[in-house]
Amino acid sequence: MRLAAEIAGVTFPSCIINASGPLCTTFEELKALGHSASGAIVTKSMTKEARAGNPEPRYYEFPQGSLNSMGLPNLGYQKYAEFIPRLKEFGKPIIASVAGMNGHEYEEIAGYISSKGPDLIEINLSCPNIIGKPQLGYDWEASEAVLKTVRPLVSQPLGVKLPPYFDPIHQEVMAGVLKRARIDFVVVINSVGNALIIDPDTEQVVIRPKDGFGGLGGACIKPVALANVRAFYQLLSEEMPIIGVGGIVSGVDAFEHLLAGASAVAVGTAFAKEGLGIFQRLGEELGQLLKQKGYSSAQGVIGKLRVMDD
Ligand code: DHB
Repeated sequence: MRLAAEIAGVTFPSCIINASGPLCTTFEELKALGHSASGAIVTKSMTKEARAGNPEPRYYEFPQGSLNSMGLPNLGYQKYAEFIPRLKEFGKPIIASVAGMNGHEYEEIAGYISSKGPDLIEINLSCPNIIGKPQLGYDWEASEAVLKTVRPLVSQPLGVKLPPYFDPIHQEVMAGVLKRARIDFVVVINSVGNALIIDPDTEQVVIRPKDGFGGLGGACIKPVALANVRAFYQLLSEEMPIIGVGGIVSGVDAFEHLLAGASAVAVGTAFAKEGLGIFQRLGEELGQLLKQKGYSSAQGVIGKLRVMDD
């Protein structure tokens, strides 16, 4: 079965890749992704300075998903600038994920990391866990300003990782921002920000930072993810391919993301839980399903979701 994907002219050997977040911070972790069946190596979102992240406990797993408030622990962009050329040997696309604390940092990081030759760059506009910093993706003007200043500094395909939206008007407005900033691809969705899980036994929150509020991920967010993939596909499919993220635990979940309009899918919570073998498993499950259904490639499924007649 042909599981390859193409994003903004870059070929991915498999359409199933890691999401920026878990297990992609250190050089060892990035190399392990190189050896795995992941169709790309996606880095943790990098900031200007190295960060230790928020106090622990900051990650909570439960049967339907995860709650995290990691606080962007990463080694700082200079380290990823060193790593990227050394990750080329794996022969699969490298996506550098960039997160600034302000517009200037986005510019500095994206411009410098571009010169180190990642295959694509993802601008993360949606980290919910930095105390005192709102998610940029909910501020249209600030998003447009950052993307327009970064765009000319980056020579490779430039993507944007967005938070979930819950109203079609918001997706329309953001699609306009992405078009005007000449963005090449879209990654949806980041975690559902500022969710709260309560342990009724202890009568306590389950993570320490922000009094327990954190980003919700995993199986329970799939319907929100599919809705955003579909909405952006309807708005942008002519111009920008979509990487679908949110709730992918099985080959069927990946298939649903493709139907909604994703060209590739990225796995976060389930990767954190299951480890590197998940890319092989999901590839096999998706391959079998496509064969059963008579498709000859993953690409043949993109956007094929059927709606009901009026
Ligand atoms: C973190 C969480 C995110 O959802 C994100 O996009 C970036 C960073 C974090 O807490 O580390």
